[in-house]
Order: sequence, then structure tokens, then C-alpha cells
Amino acid sequence: MNMKMEMNMNSLLFVVLCLIHVSRCVSYTNFAFGDSVVDAGNNNHLASLSKADYSPYGIDFTPSGGKPTGRYTNGFTIIDIIAQALGAKTLASPSLAGNATSNALLGGINFGSGASGILEETGAVYLGRIPLRKQIDHFEQSRAEMVQTMGENRTQDLLKNAIFSLTIGNNDIITYFLPKIPFIGSYNEVSHAVLQETMVAHMGSYLKRLHELGARKFVVVDIGPLGCLPFVRAIHLLPDGKCHEEMNMLIRGYNEKLRQAVNILNQDLGNGSIFVYANSYDVISEILQNYRDYGFENVNDPCCGGNIPPFFCFRIEGEERQISSNLCDDRSKYLFWDAYHPGQAANFIIAQHVLNGDENICSPFNIRQLHNLKL
Ligand SMILES: *[C@@H]1O[C@H](CO)[C@@H](O)[C@H](O)[C@H]1NC(C)=O
Ligand SMILES: *[C@@H]1O[C@H](CO)[C@@H](O)[C@H](O)[C@H]1NC(C)=O
Ligand SMILES: *[C@@H]1O[C@H](CO)[C@@H](O)[C@H](O)[C@H]1NC(C)=O
Repeated sequence: MNMKMEMNMNSLLFVVLCLIHVSRCVSYTNFAFGDSVVDAGNNNHLASLSKADYSPYGIDFTPSGGKPTGRYTNGFTIIDIIAQALGAKTLASPSLAGNATSNALLGGINFGSGASGILEETGAVYLGRIPLRKQIDHFEQSRAEMVQTMGENRTQDLLKNAIFSLTIGNNDIITYFLPKIPFIGSYNEVSHAVLQETMVAHMGSYLKRLHELGARKFVVVDIGPLGCLPFVRAIHLLPDGKCHEEMNMLIRGYNEKLRQAVNILNQDLGNGSIFVYANSYDVISEILQNYRDYGFENVNDPCCGGNIPPFFCFRIEGEERQISSNLCDDRSKYLFWDAYHPGQAANFIIAQHVLNGDENICSPFNIRQLHNLKL
């Protein structure tokens, strides 16, 4: 029996055991919603200008042998690393890859989509993307399939101990600061306060909708200091070490409002539901400030694609020679993989913080404690 068949047999056996005894499925299940920080291949299936299905994306992703998968980084994403640390059988599969029920039982389903946002119109310039509302529609469809296969009660049992993570909002902020494009995105004229409140209100209603569908363990990830992204620093001509302060201030205001909304959800829906607020802003700020302590040598430039527009990170293997954008020598020494996304080395550090951190990073529980709770 070859390796691949053996793996399929094991997966099948596990699914069958789970169908018989849901209580025996102690493994980690993640229903992941979000943008390119979590997308593991959904945009591969869309007509989108936002894709990561070409080299050298995935160059350090060992399960694919370094081939691109659609992840917007060189290796594992933060949610991949968390899943592995918590003993997931497999990584959550992209929702558009099919087989929702068996995937849900194995490692979970990843609904994330590059360029998407909390607000519907965010990312419109990239054409194809799955906004958060639609990601939740997709979850509802998967849930219906699960109910068909294993019944309502077993589906509820599976869902109540699964982790529902939402990692989204980056593109709403980035879109707000882009120059206004006629007919696309009208909200970049509202005030900071209105933008923050609109985003938080949408998040709140989506969290409630997931709760109605049976989600009980939530991880709500805040927005990091996007004003320090190489892309943002380059288009605003900021020198090394300087970040876009207005953008970061807007984000801190949003994060504070999001934290309050999460607290209120814990009070209102607290009975048997837990909403964890994950503070990635402070984790990433700390890495930026003391980067040498974390093993980085460069937190200004992307490893791949350079820091001048259009920031393309690509490699084309030809018959005679290969054509590629800049690629740094040591990927582990760069915080940023491309102009928009952290590299795997940074993802490992961020994942460790949210998995094991204290209440300044994750409250009321860290992700390891949340996983270990039996609901
Ligand atoms: C879905 O599952 C079936 C049966 O296990 C398998 O043959 C098929 O390849 C799977 N499809 C995808 C897209 O994973
Ligand atoms: C589902 O759970 C409810 C409430 O616990 C119970 O009354 C019902 O019999 C269960 N249905 C099945 C098919 O097990
Ligand atoms: C929590 O659940 C218990 C038992 O089901 C119930 O008595 C109590 O009123 C609930 N509290 C809230 C705030 O809903």
C-alpha cells in the first residue's frame, strides 16, 4: 500500500469512528474565517487578481514539497501552526475544495479568502474574493451537509467543541486608505469613528449568526499594526523604522471597540459560549521593536518582491533560465515574506504567543486553554 492510500484509509477510518462516536473525536477542529492571512487555497478557485498559487509562494511549505498551495506566505500560516500544535489530524481544508463533511471531521474547514474584508465592498479592485458574510453562508451550507450525513445532534456536538476563528479586517483598513476609485468602495469618505463602528457592528452580527448556527468557542483576532507593512511604508514614502501612524491609530481605536464588543458578547451569550479576543497588535509591535531578540535581521523589507511598487513576488522557471523577483538569501531572518504578509518564521512566533500567552495577549483564555475546555 503506498503512502497516499494509507493516509486516505486512516482518514476514512477516523471519519467512520467519528460518525459512530463523536465523543471520541478529541482532535482539534477549526472553522477558520478570514483574509489572506488564513486563506489556504480558496482564491485558487476564483477569478481574482489576489492569488498566491505560483512560486515562490509555499517554498517552505513541507506538506506540498515547496509547491504553492494558495497560502500567502512561504510556509505555514498561523492557523496551520496552531492546528499542528494542538494535534490536528490534518490542516483545515479550503471550503472550495469540496468534501465538507469529511473535512469538518478531520481538521475543520478553512473559509478564508485573500482580499476579502468584513465589509462587503472591500477588495473589489481584486475582483474575485469571498467577503465574510459569504464565508459564513458557505459554513451554513457545510453545516447542512454535516446534518445530512450525521444528524443534527452529532453535528451540534462537533461544532460546540470546534474553534471558530475570525482573522479579518486588514483589507477594510487598507482599502480605506487607498485613493478613491470611482464606483468602487464608497466608505473611504466616512470618519475614522464611523469606519471603526461599522466594522465592529458587522463583526458582532456575524459572531451572533455563527453562534445561532452552533458555534461556541470563538477566537476573534484583532488587526495588527498594518501601518508598518512594507507596502504601506513604501507608498507613503516612509523611511526605515517609521510606520504610518494615522493608520495604526485608526487600528488601535478599532481594536479597542472590538475588544469591548467581545466582552459584551461574553456577558450576553456567555452561557456555554466563549469569545476569546486575540491581541496580535501588541505581539507584532513587540517583535518589530525588539526584532533581534526574536532572531530577525530585517523588519523593513519584504524577503520576496522588493519594496517598490508593484511589489510582485514571483518566479518563473523557463527552459533556459528562471525569471524571478528579488528573493532574500535567508527567509528566516525577515519578518515579512512579501510586502503584505509575515513569513513563516514570524507566523511561528505569533502562533506561540496566542497559543500560550497571558491575558494581555488572549483573554479570557489563550487558545490552548480554549481548546482544552470541554463544552
Ligand atoms: C472527496 O472525497 C472523495 C471520496 O473520499 C474522493 O474520492 C475525492 O477525491 C475527494 N475530493 C476532494 C476534492 O478532496
Ligand atoms: C437529539 O437530542 C435531543 C435533546 O437532547 C433528544 O431529545 C433527541 O432524542 C436527540 N435525537 C437523536 C436522533 O438522537
Ligand atoms: C445559563 O444557563 C442556566 C442553565 O441552563 C440558566 O439557568 C441561566 O438562566 C442561564 N443564564 C443566562 C445569563 O442566560
